[in-house]
Formats: sequence, structure tokens, C-alpha cells
Amino acid sequence: MCGIIGYVGKEDSVGILLDGLRRLEYRGYDSAGIAVSGKNGISIVKSRGRLQCLQDKINAGERPFGNCGIGHTRWATHGEPSDANAHPHRCGHVTLVHNGIIENYMQLKAERLAEGVIFHSDTDTEVAAATLNHFYTGNPIAAIAKTVEAVEGSYALGILFDDQPETLYAVRRDSPLVVGLGSGENFIASDMTVLLQHTKRYLLPEPGEIAVIRKDGVEMFGLDGKPIVKEVRTADWDAGTAEKGGYPHFMLKEIHEEPDAVRRCLSPRIRNGHIELNISGLPDEALAKTERIHIVACGTAMHAGLVGRYAIESLARVPVEVDIASEFRYRNPILGKNDLVVLISQSGETADTLAALRLAKEHGIRTLAIVNVPGSSIAREADDVLYTWAGPEIAVASTKAYLVQLAVLYLVAVKLASLHETLSAKEESALCKELLEIPEKIQEAVESEPAVLECAQKLKDAQHVFFIGRGVDYTLCMESSLKLKEVSYIHCEAYAAGELKHGTISLIEQGTPVIAVATQPALYPKTVSNLEEVKARGADVMLVCGKDANVEADLAANVLRVPNVHDVLAPMAAIVPLQLLAYHIAVLRGCDVDKPRNLAKSVTVE
Ligand code: F6R
Repeated sequence: MCGIIGYVGKEDSVGILLDGLRRLEYRGYDSAGIAVSGKNGISIVKSRGRLQCLQDKINAGERPFGNCGIGHTRWATHGEPSDANAHPHRCGHVTLVHNGIIENYMQLKAERLAEGVIFHSDTDTEVAAATLNHFYTGNPIAAIAKTVEAVEGSYALGILFDDQPETLYAVRRDSPLVVGLGSGENFIASDMTVLLQHTKRYLLPEPGEIAVIRKDGVEMFGLDGKPIVKEVRTADWDAGTAEKGGYPHFMLKEIHEEPDAVRRCLSPRIRNGHIELNISGLPDEALAKTERIHIVACGTAMHAGLVGRYAIESLARVPVEVDIASEFRYRNPILGKNDLVVLISQSGETADTLAALRLAKEHGIRTLAIVNVPGSSIAREADDVLYTWAGPEIAVASTKAYLVQLAVLYLVAVKLASLHETLSAKEESALCKELLEIPEKIQEAVESEPAVLECAQKLKDAQHVFFIGRGVDYTLCMESSLKLKEVSYIHCEAYAAGELKHGTISLIEQGTPVIAVATQPALYPKTVSNLEEVKARGADVMLVCGKDANVEADLAANVLRVPNVHDVLAPMAAIVPLQLLAYHIAVLRGCDVDKPRNLAKSVTVE
């Protein structure tokens, strides 16, 4: 949801800014721009379209020079993607880039218009630039502080002032921002992975803290203008993990990383047949008192939550509600004092999930975040956090993050079951063993790629695909349907297999592709009956089932077998061929797999 980058140092900033934008493109890619402060003042180059369009403009002669600059890659919120609406935006002495939404921009714009300011774009960001310029009388920190007071909404701003050479300013509220600390050079970025090839040391500004960044040092100030001492953090992700490493796409690389990611996530938390969550603020005695769990998340993370519900309810018999974060926050949820609100988020920055977390905290309810990105807003604001340790996920479509979210939810489920004594020590130990073996099963599933490719060839020209399943398989259908539609642009529907005949079956006609997911032996015969029903109406049927399922010869045109695992854990292996299927169909259709249209990796606006 927009990426920002800034550099000040000894090098020419243009190459560094463009490289940073390339790495940030997953956050939005409908326009891009840079502003560079050089000998002749600040030069701006910006363009509608992918980063390449900006690069082409620069190659065609519009190349600025300077050791200090800011850059932006946009996911449009206010105003269509166009050259004029692309960032950076400039007003008077101020040039800035922005990630987020200025909610009161109409009111601020009216105030500036009344002062005679002329606007050149439809964006809320230009209004922020005009507001900052309005307050600027030569003291950047005082002007930024007044702007923070005047502006409502979410933002991370990277700012240049005409008369403050070789200095970057930055401030944030509810949008991510890191300050990277190099040697003789310093940076700002929306995401630390972008800076890993330059430095691993960074600061995390809190909302309202103002960063003043020069090549030889970074100073932080509060809104009162007083200096603040910040803890220097060190990223433990490798620069290499944020590269494609020989794979044609990040999505494929990340699917292939799933066995290792899950191993990294699970093995340190399983000791001698027991789960050790080590949540400092939520000891076992407190966890044992949990009466109800509310899982709140968006998209794929919410789908992981649905699997979590099956696991927790079936193993621990603790009731679980799963909510889409954007619904939860406005539906006045009923929260009890012994409830636990679990927020799931890869990025840790999703605006609705963050708002749901704050809502739960306002009600005095304990919050636990399951997050991938260290130091992200959700991780910092939740009472407790369980990191998923998957390393950076760059492809817009989430794959390995989903797997590790499932892994953590299984850990929580088994832990709760042991605390609630719905599992014996022997059963807990057996499940722990199964969990430790899961990475190998996932590897086996990844190796089913040739069979998946065959199915992808058959489905690549489909206009609609239906996924059907029962119980936890239905949740896998929801995730598979989301994955396929987002990367391949094929219209997909996920249906509870037993529900189809209550209306939707009227859409099934000769040749309609239907993918049935049937990993649960207890429900297998029921799903097969539903499969027969659609087959009888002409559907072209594919089945995803366990290795040992007894599939009748003519039941499905294609059968994808998944490794044998404990029924409760089956989703972890079964989702893999379905992720690969979405990937390969998208590739065969010539889609931009890692950056599907209209999407952004981190949704920091509501
Ligand atoms: C789909 C996808 C999204 C995210 C959702 C939540 O492939 O990636 O549906 O899962 O936007 O994002 P996080 O997990 O960062 O909160």
C-alpha cells in the first residue's frame, strides 16, 4: 500500500532510490517517482505505470543528480494513477512522499485553497505537503509537529525542505517506517527488507516521533521538539532471502521455502513432546483460563484463522469465533473478560487488523498477535506476540506466511488442549511428533508439482472455477479460490460442498471446472456424493485427497494426492498443490504473478 524510500550519503542517490523502489514495488505499482536534492535544488521525476516507466523517463534524459533523495511507489487511494497524482508532491519549500491516507484532507484543502494555494493533483498527499509548507517558517521540526497535530489519518512521510540540504525528515502514524543506519549514509524505508543490502541496523520511529536524517547521523525528536534516544535494532533476515534466488517468481520461491519456514517456526517450540510457546505475558495459567477466542484477520490470514478454529475447537473444545477485521471493528463484538483476541497478520501493518487490535485493547481484552514481520505495528501493540519466523514474503499473494500461520495456530491448539486436559500427555506427545514431521510432508507436497502442472494446463483457459469441500476442507477451498482468482484473474467460488444444491448448482453446466478438496476421511463419502451431483450436471471434476483415499476409477478426471498426515493437520500439506495450481495457471495465462493488478502486499488503509 505505497512504498517509500529515502537516502542521504556519499553516493548518487538515484540508483539507490530506484533499486529500493524495485524492492518496494510489491507494496503498490501504479506509479512511481523520485525527488533528488542536488546542486540546483530539488528535481522531481515521476510517472504513471510500473517502475520501468519511471526508469525509461530517467534514461530518456530526465536524470537528476544528488546525494539525498526520496522515492515512492504508489497504490492509488485518492486520485487515479496518473503522472500528476504520482508522488513526490511539492508545495512551496516542501517536497514529500506519503504512505497512508489523510482523512481530513478535504477540510485542510479548503483551508489552503482559501490561502490561495494552487493544487496540481487530486491527492491527499499534496494537501499534506501544502499543510506542512503552511506551517514552515524555517524550523522543520516545529512545522512537522504542527502538521502532525493538524492532520488526521495514517501516514508515513519522507520529507525534503528546499533550504535544508542533505537532510531527510520523516514522521509516521499508523503506517510503517524504518530508519536504516549505515556507515556514512542513512536511509528511510517502508520495510526493512528493502535496506538489507545496505545495512541491518535500524530504528523504529513510534507514532509522532520525528527523524532527522543526515549522512553522518540520525536524530530523533518528540513533537515537543525534545531529543529522544532510540534503541538500535538489528534485522536478522539475510539480504539473500529478499531475492528470487534463481526462481522465476517470488511466489514459487516462497512455496518452495515452506518446508523450511514451517520447520523454523515449529521446532524451537516443541520440546520433549510438549509445546513451549514462551509467551512471557501469557503464562500457561493465564492461557488455561481462556473461555473464548476471537481470531481476527484479513484475507489469507483470516483463512488461516478458519483452520485454527477447527483445530482449537476439535482439540481443546474452546469456542472460537473468526472475524474479518474490517467487519469485527464495526460490529460491536461481544467480548468477555476471559476472552483472548488473536490477531493474525503477515505484515503486521494491515490497517483493519490493527484497528481490531486497538478495539480489543480498549475493551480491556487480552490480545495475542501472530505476526511475521518483526517490530511491525501489530507486533508492537499487542499484549503478546508469537512470531511466525517465515522470513520476508515478497510475492503479493501470500503462501508461506499462510503455512506458518497454520503452524502457530496448531501449536496454540495443542497447548490449549493440554491445558484444558482435552488431550492426554500421550496424545499431546503424539501430535507433537506429527507436527515435527510436517515439514517433510510439505516437502513431499511441493514435489507433486509435475502433476499440478498437468492440471494447470487443463484449467488455464477456464472462465470460472468452483471449489467445494466440507469442514476444514471448505476453508482450504476458500483460500485456494482466493489464491487462484487473485493471481490468474479467473472467477472462482468456494462452496461448502453440501450447500451447493441450495442455489449455486444452477451455475454448473457442461465443462464447468469443479475442484473438490476431500482430505478428511470422515467426510470423504459425503464430499464424493456432492462431486457426483456436479458431475451429473456436466462438471469437469478434479479431486484433491489423501494418498490412501479409495477413489473410484471414473470419479474425477484428475486426482491430486496429498501426503498422509493426521486429519487435523491435513490442511498444511493439502494447501500446497492448490497454491502451486494457482501459480502455474497464472504463469500459463501470462499474468504478472508476483504483482497482480490492483493489489498491494500490505494494506495499510481501511
Ligand atoms: C492474499 C493476501 C491477502 C493478505 C491480507 C492480510 O494472498 O496476501 O489476503 O493475507 O491482505 O495481510 P496481512 O497478513 O499482512 O495482515
